[in-house]
Amino acid sequence: MGAEHLGDRAATWDEDPDKRRQADDVARAVAAAVPPGGRTRLLEYGAGTGLVAQGLLARLDGLAVTLADSSSGMRAVLAGKVADGTLPSDARVWELDLEHDDPPAERFDLVVSSMVLHHVRDLARVLDGLAALLDDGGLLCVADLDHEDGSFHEHLHDFDGHHGFERADLSAAMGRAGLVDVTVQDCTVIERDGRPYGVFLAVGRRERRDGA
Ligand SMILES: C[S@@+](CC[C@H](N)C(=O)[O-])C[C@H]1O[C@@H](n2cnc3c(N)ncnc32)[C@H](O)[C@@H]1O
Repeated sequence: MGAEHLGDRAATWDEDPDKRRQADDVARAVAAAVPPGGRTRLLEYGAGTGLVAQGLLARLDGLAVTLADSSSGMRAVLAGKVADGTLPSDARVWELDLEHDDPPAERFDLVVSSMVLHHVRDLARVLDGLAALLDDGGLLCVADLDHEDGSFHEHLHDFDGHHGFERADLSAAMGRAGLVDVTVQDCTVIERDGRPYGVFLAVGRRERRDGA
């Protein structure tokens, strides 16, 4: 199973203060990694209910926002937030699953994925897709779980994603996808059943396609 169960929780996702805090911690770390500048075309992949994007909008000026998720339940919440003004009226909501779909023919300056990649089975394919969506020099920011013992998803009997990642392994996978200057830092901690699970932020820059 992938992440289908998450869509069932979309309507009540934002009621959990821990989820709001974690997303804001991710947004703070991503915002600190983005150089100041003009208009930034943001794609959040696996955006869920858009909490990370909301945190980015509060911190960064000039964001043009596209929010992608494979879950119809999450996309319904996102569309509702666009309709009620929680998210900008020009924010786009995309159905996208890069494990199965080709990347759309668009380019972004900033691609963010928060707590998504441990759910995907074909990590290389998804990272290739995210890199393809970046303009030359654009940033890929991946927040995800440090490698754990499998207890994080033990309540899901058929979870078949990753038990987090070794930071060096994910950095290497980002490098194979065409990201350079990859850095990894502590980002936040998730408490579950009294246990702390570390979350890192990995940031890489899309190398120029002409190799220069
Ligand atoms: C744990 S939630 C995180 C939501 C949000 N990024 C946050 O940090 O608050 C993971 C999200 O990734 C989405 N997702 C999982 N697998 C995906 C895939 N292959 N393609 C696109 N979205 C995916 C899920 O539907 C869910 O919304």
